[in-house]
Amino acid sequence: MELKNAKQLRGTIAVPGDKSISHRAIMFGAISEGITEVSNFLQGADCLSTISCFQKMGISIDNQPDYVVIHGKGLHGLSKPQSVLDAGNSGTTTRLISGILSGQPFDSVISGDASMQKRPMKRILTPLSAMGADVRSEKGNDCVPLAFHPAKLHGIHYNSPVASAQVKSCILLAGLYADGVTSVTEPVLSRNHTELMLSAFGARITSLGRTASVQPQSRLKGLKVEVPGDISSAAYFIAAGLLVKDAEILIQNVGINPTRDGILKAARAMGGNIQKLNKRTVSGEPVCDLLVTSGPLHGTTIDGELIPALIDEIPILAVMAAFAEGTTVIRDAAELKVKESNRINTVTDNLQRMGADVTPTEDGMIITGNPDALHGADFNSCMDHRIAMSFAVAALALKHPCTMKDAECVTISYPSFYSDLESLICL
Ligand code: S3P
Repeated sequence: MELKNAKQLRGTIAVPGDKSISHRAIMFGAISEGITEVSNFLQGADCLSTISCFQKMGISIDNQPDYVVIHGKGLHGLSKPQSVLDAGNSGTTTRLISGILSGQPFDSVISGDASMQKRPMKRILTPLSAMGADVRSEKGNDCVPLAFHPAKLHGIHYNSPVASAQVKSCILLAGLYADGVTSVTEPVLSRNHTELMLSAFGARITSLGRTASVQPQSRLKGLKVEVPGDISSAAYFIAAGLLVKDAEILIQNVGINPTRDGILKAARAMGGNIQKLNKRTVSGEPVCDLLVTSGPLHGTTIDGELIPALIDEIPILAVMAAFAEGTTVIRDAAELKVKESNRINTVTDNLQRMGADVTPTEDGMIITGNPDALHGADFNSCMDHRIAMSFAVAALALKHPCTMKDAECVTISYPSFYSDLESLICL
């Protein structure tokens, strides 16, 4: 795909629904009693994988353009899937459903695409096994396919070595089916959408600092969920608005949960002009509109507790760093290596293609901004949606033609990304 350059961006945009929240609405609706109606659901390939997994387990899900209706069958209403559950490219689908499958009275197998088959599952196999789950990696490599057999689950207290909402949520969902309290302590608090939404569905779940606990549950009740816009998708427009020389963009209806808003903190630390307008609460999640105005950026350090709150935004922050004045250090982010691609490698490779000064490290990267040395490039998404979107934004701010290999992978989280971006280009 040929990518556009731009001198001026203007306009208003509403990014699609939050991916994490869309997944959870389907899952929790399926195991609740009665109807769950979801509006602003993200129609991305990852969330469609979650829908198809639950349809295979006998849940009727009516996916309309404006809303999704899930006819929940309760915690014990799922039925044995007749074939392998296909999570596609989605780690969230794989890891969260695994918590639910562990507690079912039937056999099941979950697998995914080529990238998914390389992603680490030991992080959930260890705690699920400690709870008594009968789960194993079919190839013995701690990756999918994972095979589940019926087993009695026990509550545990788990000290997670990684700050991962996928791991935390997997354990909490298994905990609904366990015979005692289940709790998870994380090294740093990860996104808390599971805790907020499960509680709204009627689960007895508590959070205290870095620990979340859930009681065994006999019933959850369906509800209406309005999904806020995805801050991870908004991040590309925040960066575009800051990097293109003459830009002013209003991004409407963006979820700003404090466990997700690291992009705002980091972009402001780089000097970015971002205003929060019209703050409100939508389905228990904080939401606002963001007004972004271009201006010079400078380097910063991104590390520690901030990392889980912006883990998916590091590729676009790295692009911003390449255009900023001075050096940006990203560390404590070894998790980047086990995302849809090894994002330390794929970000470094694409930054180097455009002439940026970047040094990869074991747990991040060091980028020294040198806008005058940057030039057009043939980028490679490596089939990773966030790499494709990050470097499409880089192309906007570069002065020369650029192309993207496998650009269409953005359908994973943002099917209309390129047309939305184009709608803002004035010159
Ligand atoms: C997600 C959690 C994050 C994030 C992913 C979505 C979720 O993964 O990278 O895109 O919905 O729980 P980890 O929690 O494993 O870091």
